[in-house]
Amino acid sequence: IGNEVCVMGWVQRQRDLGALIFIDLRDRTGIVQLAFDDTTDPALFEKAASCRNEFVLSVCGTVRVRSSINTEIPTGEVEIYADSVKILGESEVPPFEIVDDCKTSEDIRLKYRYLDLRRSKLQQNLMFRHRVAKVTRDYFDENGFIEIETPYLIRSTPEGARDYLVPSRVHPGSFYALPQSPQLYKQLLMVSGFDRYFQIARCYRDEDARGDRQPEFTQIDMEMSFVSRDDVLSMTEGMMAHVFQQTMNITLETPFPRIAYDDAMDWYGSDKPELRFDMKMQDAAFMAEVGSFQAFKDALAPNEKGVVTGAVKALVVTGVAADYSRKKIEELEGTAKIYKARGLGWTKVAGTADAPVFEGGIAKFFEGQAAVVCEKLGAKAGDLLLFVADQKKSVACTALGAVRSRLGKDLNLCNPDQFAFAWIVDFPMFEWNEEENKWDTAHHMFTMPQEKYHATLESDPGSVKGDLYDLVLNGYELASGSIRIHDPQLQKRIFQIVGFDEAEGQKKFGFLTEAFKYGAPPHGGIAPGLDRLVMLMCKETSIKEVIAFPKNSFAQSPMDDCPSEVDQKQIDDLHLI
Ligand code: AMO
Repeated sequence: IGNEVCVMGWVQRQRDLGALIFIDLRDRTGIVQLAFDDTTDPALFEKAASCRNEFVLSVCGTVRVRSSINTEIPTGEVEIYADSVKILGESEVPPFEIVDDCKTSEDIRLKYRYLDLRRSKLQQNLMFRHRVAKVTRDYFDENGFIEIETPYLIRSTPEGARDYLVPSRVHPGSFYALPQSPQLYKQLLMVSGFDRYFQIARCYRDEDARGDRQPEFTQIDMEMSFVSRDDVLSMTEGMMAHVFQQTMNITLETPFPRIAYDDAMDWYGSDKPELRFDMKMQDAAFMAEVGSFQAFKDALAPNEKGVVTGAVKALVVTGVAADYSRKKIEELEGTAKIYKARGLGWTKVAGTADAPVFEGGIAKFFEGQAAVVCEKLGAKAGDLLLFVADQKKSVACTALGAVRSRLGKDLNLCNPDQFAFAWIVDFPMFEWNEEENKWDTAHHMFTMPQEKYHATLESDPGSVKGDLYDLVLNGYELASGSIRIHDPQLQKRIFQIVGFDEAEGQKKFGFLTEAFKYGAPPHGGIAPGLDRLVMLMCKETSIKEVIAFPKNSFAQSPMDDCPSEVDQKQIDDLHLI
């Protein structure tokens, strides 16, 4: 109070009350009120009257106590009684108001992103992102890691998604690719002896956008030599604990729980389960025996080779029987059907604790069996039971898992302040590609198969588990990594299983296998997505809210209208047509 100050910023709002003018001046640290009254110099008063929203001002004056205090904002007790105002920049009427609760369409927001970025929420998000990146760097530095930049113009190599290609002007018909990740380069750095590498690296993938996916995004990429899986996991846990402590003052409990992939699929129907609520799915194969419901029996009938490939999965939704009308259950069935389920079986538990009975849905197929079923499933009166049965166990699991996720949202089962981390481990090494009738690697080709499967790689690829791990947080895949193959012979076997002949493998990854001939250390690493991490920490549901200049869902930037056509001369120079 009483201090002479000078402030600069944007006019958030000007209120002209006749004898009094108030201006809320905004910068990225917040808002301060400027006051002009009948003791203000008339020329200055007139200037204040001419100020409109988003004008840029430089204002000097004296800090004083406000006559009416606003306890809602941090500077609500004071104001600046102005004695000079300089208009540094005028503004046209902006296409939308710069307020937190912005109802403007996303395309308009992206077209005027520089205005959108004036909103306090986005400014907070980007400043927070800066803090996360800064303390991440500190953590790796303190742990002996070296940040090394890897190239952005690289050779196109199959890594899962489609590459963005960059045509070469000096080599007609040849292309660079933008990296989908620094994967191969970080492995080469291990061969070079940089045994602890990290990089906050931009990655590019030509894939369809989603809430948690952008065509360009940022990874906290890291790799270590002479390590086993648990070394990488605990280094990553340490990083997450450091970041949460330093930026949010939250102490994470480490080590994070570890869940085998098969269990994650069995319990949650997802390899990125939402763990802020429990509600595990259960195996209900016994229900094909105790009841007369044909769909359950069909799902568990052996196939032509005499093998049972199906499953009956059950969810007990505690205490909601009365809240779920037929219509609401049909909506849940709609979710199950998106994931290829033929239907969603349901019934409600009524009666008493000692004598439960089933009501509605598939109740008639289980007459007299309610007590047995409830005991096995741990259900009681008032619960809703949901089932998916399918001849493919994976369909039963993923479809009912999707219903579980939806229930989590519908029933508000997730505490928004909780961060439920877990490792998903023991992933299958290979996936069967139905379209091409061949095995693909589930992560990438450089993942080490777990040692106990080395002898049976070729004879039984479907059973092989990889030394592969994902970090999941609140239902999102936050990071993915693996221990890598460093033995050229083993790498060759993997290429063969996924149908890369030697010449092809040599052509696409020859430089890596060549490097491994000259003394490759055992190594492994991981890459958490920075955008996803910051999104979850900021409690946003789209990574666009934590990226300064993101693309829209059609991979366009409405602001600079990119991608755009280019001059014929540029096309000619690049020998494109
Ligand atoms: P992966 O492809 O699983 O692994 O990616 C690792 C993490 O990067 C983030 N991510 C994305 N974020 C936003 N938009 C996208 N399109 C996108 N794609 C991926 C996710 C994901 O978990 N080289 C390996 C890592 C390794 O093995 O070390 C890799 O890139 O958070």
